[in-house]
Amino acid sequence: MAFMAHRVTLIPGDGIGPEVCEAAVMAVMATGVKIEWERVELSARIIEQTRQELPEWVVESLERTRVGLKGPVTTPIGEGYQSVNVALRKRLDLYVNFRPVRSLPGVRTRYADTFIDLVIFRENTEDLYAGLEHEVVKDVVTSLKVITRAASLRIARYAFDWAQRAGRKRIHAVHKANIMKLGDGLFLRCCREVAREYPQIEYKELIVDNAAMQMVLRPETFDVLVMPNLYGDIVSDLAAGLVGGLGLVPGANLGDQCAVFEAVHGSAPDIAGRGIANPTALMLSSVLMLDYLGERDAARRLRYAIERTYAAGEYLTPDVGGGATTAQFTDAVIRNLEKAPPVLGG
Ligand code: NAI
Ligand code: MG
Repeated sequence: MAFMAHRVTLIPGDGIGPEVCEAAVMAVMATGVKIEWERVELSARIIEQTRQELPEWVVESLERTRVGLKGPVTTPIGEGYQSVNVALRKRLDLYVNFRPVRSLPGVRTRYADTFIDLVIFRENTEDLYAGLEHEVVKDVVTSLKVITRAASLRIARYAFDWAQRAGRKRIHAVHKANIMKLGDGLFLRCCREVAREYPQIEYKELIVDNAAMQMVLRPETFDVLVMPNLYGDIVSDLAAGLVGGLGLVPGANLGDQCAVFEAVHGSAPDIAGRGIANPTALMLSSVLMLDYLGERDAARRLRYAIERTYAAGEYLTPDVGGGATTAQFTDAVIRNLEKAPPVLGG
């Protein structure tokens, strides 16, 4: 593994995307892992120019490399083309959205004495993100929420299987089956079915509104969560807020053939181009990518370097209360890479 160069599709995106991508790539390269990056453009600008909803070169590159590191891409609100992010996930059948949310040392939050370490598995291909909307008559719109047994079973299986391998104890299925008895009811039945195959993992269910409150009140009681697409989107940002914000939370879109690593956050137009975006979320996404590529030691060292940078607290970006730029934070992480202790016994 260590001697062969990996090929990875790099999608800088737009907004703060190119800034955090550059930082993440520098940190990954500093681990010494050899990667040949295939850089492709995917941005609001290029979509409008080419009028392609999902440019073919992006799909072709990802089908070739099967691994991507991706910055956010802006989506027009309330009009225009469908989300290119959603299109990409559907096209490559990246049915799992994996989002580990973990406290970082030295980040001041409202939960000073609470260590948060929860993992969200969000179904990534259907639900209201199917994009099936229709104006039935003037001023009356229906948006179809699609829930299938196949997609619900495979996200539940993935979550339970991952939890078992990671030695996790508890899974919450999050739903609104009291109202959407058929759709969310089906999702829930699939979760129950899979849960029976994993008797050693405690299985619980929470209605999504209550889940939101419980997460704010007692975030430490959550371990692994599995839910349909829309709740997963909302609960992810809520969970990010618990540990210090969107600048910190990584993610992965996973399928059977391909994986695209990207942060939970969007293109952050409010701070784009100012050199102050926090690249931690994409760096931690790169840690997940290195693990996926089998580069376990590089992943461990990069995670260590990021955590050490936070523990020292000297070069943090403004979103987490610091005064450093993206570049200064990145330099500090790279300096800390060398300080990672070697693994005992190799
Ligand atoms: P956002 O996640 O871009 O920003 C929300 C807030 O968090 C902003 O105040 C922003 O400054 C802050 N923030 C986010 N990431 C940060 C970082 N790395 N460092 C420091 N602060 C950070 O959400 P918003 O504003 O709702 O969406 C902006 C655009 O991004 C929209 O067009 C949306 O569709 C798109 N988007 C794209 C995603 C993707 O490509 N996967 C995911 C989410 C949103
Ligand atoms: Mg989101």
